[in-house]
Amino acid sequence: MKLDQMDLLLKQALKPGRYIHSVNTMKAAVSLAEHYGEDMEAAAVAGLLHDCAKNLRDDETLEYCRIHGIELSELEKRQVFLMHGEVGAILACEKYGVNDEIVLNAIRYHTTGYPEMNMMDKIIFLADYIEPGRTHSEVDNVRKLAYEDINRALIGSFDNIIKYVIHQRGLIHPNTIKARNSILMLISDNNQIRI
Ligand SMILES: [Fe+2]
Ligand SMILES: [Fe+2]
Repeated sequence: MKLDQMDLLLKQALKPGRYIHSVNTMKAAVSLAEHYGEDMEAAAVAGLLHDCAKNLRDDETLEYCRIHGIELSELEKRQVFLMHGEVGAILACEKYGVNDEIVLNAIRYHTTGYPEMNMMDKIIFLADYIEPGRTHSEVDNVRKLAYEDINRALIGSFDNIIKYVIHQRGLIHPNTIKARNSILMLISDNNQIRI
């Protein structure tokens, strides 16, 4: 399926605000991909479709998980919305005809991050976080860092997300902790400046 056909389908599937966020994320992802010499077409598709399952009700999300044999942890059962990445990857494949595993994985892991994120995963995670519709003040620093050092930008976004969840007395998904640890270790292995 071509990108403009995906765009048309997505527009019908999402609420207007979520659709605008998706287009913004696509643009941010393409810009980051260009900056870092990554596949801009793949970034466009992953950015556009990353939230394609966000309109589903919890019972619909759970049904997709059941059909595809995805088992939810105790934490995920309490926060079913976190599964919109996993189910988004399924929909991207089944409804939008995406076969590229790089694109599907970037969609799959954009909600929590995961250890050993590749460059496309990092681009989509960050694009989702820094797109122009995100106006909270902590984003500004990450937005600037995103084009200087993507790993430090990711640590900044994980820190902000974790602080926010703690402030809300919320549950932190283990993959977010693992992703942050893994990038911090990568940074220190590379002897880069500490954050
Ligand atoms: Fe999302
Ligand atoms: Fe998003």
